[in-house]
Amino acid sequence: MPAEVRVFAPATVANVAAGFDILGFALGEPGDQVRIRRTAAPGLVLRNETTFAAMPLDPAANTAGVALQALLDHLGSRDGFEITFLHKIKPGSGIGSSAASSAAAVYGANYLLGEPLTRAELVPFAMEGERLASGTAHADNVAPALLGGFVLVRSYKPLDLISITAPPRLFCSIVHPQIELKTEDARKVLKKQISLKDAVVQWGNVAGLIAGLLREDYGLIGRSLQDVVVEPIRSLLIPGYERIKEAALSAGALGCSISGSGPSLFALSTDEADARKIAAAMLSTCADCGMDSESYVSSVNGQGAVILS
Ligand code: HSE
Repeated sequence: MPAEVRVFAPATVANVAAGFDILGFALGEPGDQVRIRRTAAPGLVLRNETTFAAMPLDPAANTAGVALQALLDHLGSRDGFEITFLHKIKPGSGIGSSAASSAAAVYGANYLLGEPLTRAELVPFAMEGERLASGTAHADNVAPALLGGFVLVRSYKPLDLISITAPPRLFCSIVHPQIELKTEDARKVLKKQISLKDAVVQWGNVAGLIAGLLREDYGLIGRSLQDVVVEPIRSLLIPGYERIKEAALSAGALGCSISGSGPSLFALSTDEADARKIAAAMLSTCADCGMDSESYVSSVNGQGAVILS
């Protein structure tokens, strides 16, 4: 058993338009990279070798520390670990930065402990990191970060995760306007109740999206990327949202919506060249709206967290 591993856990797109808190998928890039090693003394030590100086290194205030401690408590383990962050997705980006850290920590430590738990069994511990980050232990980022592909959270109590393999031609374009939007804040603005009329539209679209993924029906996937519950409210927090979305659709996207709680937007398409064109159109519209932004183009990552070395 090695004493040290380097782990990659991918960025993720949660909600996927209509599936607020119940659907997400993993990206090929970007992601978090951490080095985890067992230490002689019990307790957790966190180190930061990334470019983000502001990262909390108190294990009780860091999503990776909280997630790993929850796992160790469950296992009744007094083992000590040192987690060094080597590369970090920008916090507050909407592509699962906190989830990637939590997933990497529990996946790497579980590996070093001889894999007492399966990937799926690690999800509830990574969810504790989300509770710290956003006030709610939602699973729609951590589950795909650990399991890869699309994951449907059929139920939270009990936790029932359904993995769905992505259709082979599906590509994702992400544009990340360089503003920080905390998930906790983006959750506070949401209405606690919705109308039956909106619910009917929303669950039609969630079901349509799942059917489209399973049938590899790209037209159905595109038609189902509609969110009448969350997007109308959260889009107001993203300057130029409608213009950026329109640019993605005009460039040929199947559909486009907010990635997680934003400010990133995601757009799906069926070909890498199209996905690059769509990302370029979104980037240039962000620039027209006066925002610096970054973009990523990726197929769906079917693997989830991996040991790099
Ligand atoms: N489902 C969560 C939300 C995802 O929308 O608040 C956050 O990335």
